[in-house]
Amino acid sequence: MIPASFIQDLLDRVDIVDLIDGYVRLKKAGANYSACCPFHNEKTPSFTVSPTKQFYHCFGCGAHGTAISFLMEYQGLGFVDAVKELAGKMGMPVPEQERGAPQEDRGSIRQLTEIMARAAQYYKDQLKQSPKAIDYLKGRGLSGEICARFGIGYAPEGWQNLAAAFPHYEAPELAAAGLVIENEQGRRYDRFRDRIMFPIINPKGEVIAFGGRIIGQGEPKYLNSPETPIFEKGREVYGLPQARQALREENRVIVVEGYMDVVALAQHEVGNAVATLGTATTATHVQKLLKQVDRIVYCFDGDNAGRKAAWRALENSLEALADNKSVGFAFLPDPEDPDSFVRQSGREAFSTLIAQATPLSDFLLRELGQRCDLTSSEGKARLIHEAKPLLTRLPTPLLRLQLVKRLAAASGFTQTEVERLCDIRGYAPPAPPRAPRQAPSLARILLRLVLLQPALAARIPLERVVPGSERAILAAIIERLPGLPANPAYGQLREALRGHPLESQLEALAGELLGTDMDEAYVETEFEATLGRLQEGSQKAAFAVLQAKARQFGVAGLSEEEKQNYLSLLALKKDH
Ligand code: UTP
Ligand code: MN
Repeated sequence: MIPASFIQDLLDRVDIVDLIDGYVRLKKAGANYSACCPFHNEKTPSFTVSPTKQFYHCFGCGAHGTAISFLMEYQGLGFVDAVKELAGKMGMPVPEQERGAPQEDRGSIRQLTEIMARAAQYYKDQLKQSPKAIDYLKGRGLSGEICARFGIGYAPEGWQNLAAAFPHYEAPELAAAGLVIENEQGRRYDRFRDRIMFPIINPKGEVIAFGGRIIGQGEPKYLNSPETPIFEKGREVYGLPQARQALREENRVIVVEGYMDVVALAQHEVGNAVATLGTATTATHVQKLLKQVDRIVYCFDGDNAGRKAAWRALENSLEALADNKSVGFAFLPDPEDPDSFVRQSGREAFSTLIAQATPLSDFLLRELGQRCDLTSSEGKARLIHEAKPLLTRLPTPLLRLQLVKRLAAASGFTQTEVERLCDIRGYAPPAPPRAPRQAPSLARILLRLVLLQPALAARIPLERVVPGSERAILAAIIERLPGLPANPAYGQLREALRGHPLESQLEALAGELLGTDMDEAYVETEFEATLGRLQEGSQKAAFAVLQAKARQFGVAGLSEEEKQNYLSLLALKKDH
């Protein structure tokens, strides 16, 4: 665990404008900076970065957060990795609290990445010296430039070549990295021998594993790194760093099965392809990809295995779908794969195939339809039975409604029957138009002011604030205040509230504030005035209670204390 105080120090040190400008060119726009949003596709800039409040906010897609969130979203990193990355940029060593990964483990993760980097360099150097490997790659239509872009290398023949790259061939880390294997006699040898090497690179640009292809025929065709502390197959995809720019430009990713497919497509200027690593597409893969683009097109091999893989991909995509995200399936003619297809038929034909991808709903209905004999009642019932687990996993009301309608048509049930049989709630009509805008409550005004100047929160008499979500947020802020620096920016506050159940409300409110850059003195005056109104409000309420009691029971019905209060409130009222 990283101490919270370190995270606050780090945010103190970082300038979010500098950081983001390193990835997305920012333009000054009034008090803030703006750009086309890196998290969704747009032509006019709605992505705004506030230098004073240290956060970014996109009016288009709602992306919102601190310097840390930016690295998480932009590079697909986890929280801890993003903090480490940011700390690295600032030259701040990250302290560890006792809990969490033991010291030794952390050391070895860094060591493992260093080892993999060195091995990747070694394999690249070896490729230059191997006419056989170069010929093989040329024979597969790849240019030197593309091979360099993917860091492709060659592991030569022989059993202990890595001894030339690593002075301590016996070091335990080499085995932990999966580069050497030990036999029963304790003798070590290289895992990868006489293979074309494809490094698998994470979003940070670190080599975390390799896939090695045999030259020519043989088993296994591809040999992969084992899972290690730095490599978890079901999370990673091949080709992501190389695809990043194309993903942003096209807002669409093509998911293929093989390393060679990704590289061959890039050779033909289809830059937005990535591959899963010899595993089925997992829900984690889908989530990761849909964070970066709005559309996934699966393009698997034209054989039976490819179709099965597509179905698995469908099942694992359902939960990550949203009505503004889409998934399609492009099917190649058997026995082509994307590599052979693009080489034979060219970029145009491939792009057409991708553009005409079958929508998820069509694929789903077609596959289910083929499994059930829709001419019989049994078959129609089975269709609904098979569709049920899929429908219930779809979080998208609109797409689900479409599917329900089509399932109804195919099965002969009514729409309501399908919904009932599948245990899904019917379509709720849109909410009635909202009541006309009301003046913001005092709680909301206070919260806005606190977002402008978080330190003010300490002065709020919370018991006077009307219960509601604003008060809950204010309470959370007051609670976190002691752990924050003296005059925190909104960004630091936002970070301290990471994971709070009301965070999206907080973000919406902070977004509204982007236009307002009030100076400190003005915020202070507003705040004082609002506290005054709060006080007045609670006096009014207290007075009303006492007055009602006095009317009912006479002044004699009040206790001595109540009488005193009543009189002083009455005097106050007259003063006004
Ligand atoms: P394919 O068998 O479809 O190979 O495996 P390919 O991509 O067409 O490769 P080439 O064109 O013959 O060189 C697809 C993916 O499955 C994994 C690899 O990730 C491969 O890219 N795979 C395949 C393995 O991990 N091991 C194997 O032995 C075969
Ligand atoms: Mn192939």
